[in-house]
Amino acid sequence: MNENYEKLMKCFECVQKKVSFKPELALILGSGLGDYADTMEVAETLDYHDIEGFPVSTVPGHKGRFVFGYAGGVPIVAMQGRVHFYEGYKPQDVVLPVRLIKLMGAKTLFLTNAAGGINRSFNAGDLMLITDQISMSVPSPLIGENIEELGVRFPDMSEVYSRRLRKIIENAAVTAGVPLRKGVYIQTTGPQYETPAEIRAYERLGADAVGMSTAIEAIAARHAGMEICGISCISNLAAGISVNPLTHAEVQETADRVAPLFKKLVTQAIKDIHEAE
Ligand code: HPA
Repeated sequence: MNENYEKLMKCFECVQKKVSFKPELALILGSGLGDYADTMEVAETLDYHDIEGFPVSTVPGHKGRFVFGYAGGVPIVAMQGRVHFYEGYKPQDVVLPVRLIKLMGAKTLFLTNAAGGINRSFNAGDLMLITDQISMSVPSPLIGENIEELGVRFPDMSEVYSRRLRKIIENAAVTAGVPLRKGVYIQTTGPQYETPAEIRAYERLGADAVGMSTAIEAIAARHAGMEICGISCISNLAAGISVNPLTHAEVQETADRVAPLFKKLVTQAIKDIHEAE
């Protein structure tokens, strides 16, 4: 059997033994949304450490567990803490959690992250609906033997972020009274922030925001046939656009400041996605 699929199935068997909850949607919590679970009606939790073979995050401030429960009355699983490529995991391991979520039964993947703003009209603290992505600076998580059980060898990526879900979220933002920008997300490997020259290059490529996660997760989820949406918290202006040097503390501070609005929007969006089913 395919080595990555074998690892995935081992994790899935482990989850099945420990959890009975059936999520409709999966939410990956980025910086600032880490405590989103406090707003949920929690049914069950599962620490990543308790799943044999599961990649565990090393980033300070990232808790590592699945939280199963209800957000706005909708059954969801929230991933509190994700692993990043820069931590040294293979791309195939970075996307194992997303694939696992798909096996748990979630049809929709809601991605969130903190990102640097490249678009010159953005401000730190803005929320950006992800319309599309550029993953050319990170390796594809689909490299290697294809997992036929999940998806095809050459999956289409012409609509990674579902047009249908984007419309729902734009309306949800109006309902919740939360201003929402739109734009293209580019993933870099990190962990270093970009140089001003790199940011100018990404700007010319058509990126509006830059971060170190999300795009490879979206590729794996799309490969596995999930419907995807995503929102970035613009935690800082990217290098060269901001006059200040970038720090993780600034990213975290802004993400924490915007968290109440971000949570409000996410809950409204989850409700509306559910109701549109
Ligand atoms: N660059 C890359 N990743 C990030 C940034 C950034 O400016 N801000 C938050 N995550």
